[in-house]
Amino acid sequence: MKKECVLVTGGAGYIGSHTAVELVNAGFDVVIVDDLSNAELSAVEGVRKITGVDVPFEQVDCCDRAALDRVFARYKFNSIIHFAAFKAVGESVVKPLAYYRNNLDSLMTVLEAMLAHGVSNIVFSSSATVYGQPEALPATESTPRQPATSPYGNTKQIAEDIIRDTAHAHPGFNAIALRYFNPIGAHPSALIGELPKGVPNNLVPFITQTAAGVRECLSVFGDDYNTPDGSAVRDYIDVVDLAKAHVVAVSRMVERKGKANYEFFNIGTGHGLSVLELVRAFEKVNGVKVNHRIAPRRTGDIEAIWADTSLAERELGWKATRSLEETLASAWAWEKHLRGIR
Ligand code: NAD
Ligand code: WQD
Repeated sequence: MKKECVLVTGGAGYIGSHTAVELVNAGFDVVIVDDLSNAELSAVEGVRKITGVDVPFEQVDCCDRAALDRVFARYKFNSIIHFAAFKAVGESVVKPLAYYRNNLDSLMTVLEAMLAHGVSNIVFSSSATVYGQPEALPATESTPRQPATSPYGNTKQIAEDIIRDTAHAHPGFNAIALRYFNPIGAHPSALIGELPKGVPNNLVPFITQTAAGVRECLSVFGDDYNTPDGSAVRDYIDVVDLAKAHVVAVSRMVERKGKANYEFFNIGTGHGLSVLELVRAFEKVNGVKVNHRIAPRRTGDIEAIWADTSLAERELGWKATRSLEETLASAWAWEKHLRGIR
């Protein structure tokens, strides 16, 4: 039987590369498209090494319709997973047009190419950022979205709306938006992981770089939140677990198991962890010290959020399985791999 073929846009990136691995492991054919604006070819090589499959790679900007058409003509896709986007919240405030252009143009171009080439399934990378600070926790899928506090966050809300409206206009079209909470960790092989450029904005890359001696000291942004230890609380989801959620989302669409042709799901662990708890867990699991000090709150940060994952469990049959210890060990193994630390 011919295998289902999945186009993974942004597949050389952090979450896309892990998802490509899990798709191949699950028996899908995979084609990676990436313009390498925030990735390196070594990630594609990592995917090939882990899977033992020579996964095709096309260096294409998803905003380039003609180039995308050539890719759609070369392969016969059954489904698309669309990761390709810019993702730095702070940068989006400084360069809003770059974010609106890239994140929305790439999505609309991919959707138009899908319709033109008769491809009807898409999984989209959305984000818990659409909830802002919810009034009640955990956040469920019926928790109202709140006005975005950054252009990046706004692109995710607009993108969800574009996909919802496209699905409504085309009954044969199927779309699933996955709202990721905070993805962390790396593949257990340490062959792929996150490649932050410059000073990391996200917590775990800052922790691993501090432990590696690349950064002097981690600033813990705020210890006066209304949380058990005063530091902010998030739902940290292992990137391999997150990758597997994409495999089940694609399978659901291929098997036409969806309840509607546009659905959205929270993808998290269902547990909140504070910054200080995460730092201590990292130190304990890896036996390394993370210099840290308390600093003022970071502008735009929310106090606490974690996911209600019961809908994903019930409908997708998906649940996070990796322990925090495994995840934090994988993050450290990846940092050591990058730095050549033994
Ligand atoms: P990433 O930057 O590692 O991956 C995105 C990839 O897309 C990169 O490889 C980049 O080169 C590529 N890309 C960007 N614009 C492109 C374009 N126009 N054409 C082709 N390729 C393009 O980021 P990631 O962390 O893997 O995130 C993947 C997706 O998940 C993004 O849409 C992001 O917004 C979303 N997301 C990420 C997080 C997170 O914390 N990492 C959380 C929620 C949602
Ligand atoms: C986590 C916690 C910080 C760095 C962001 C985006 C969100 C989503 C995921 C894409 C917070 C604290 C951090 C540091 C710290 N991305 N922290 N010192 O802000 O929850 O979410 O990434 O969709 O849209 O906003 O993640 O990793 O930056 O921060 O104390 O040096 O760690 O204040 O409480 P965040 P993060």
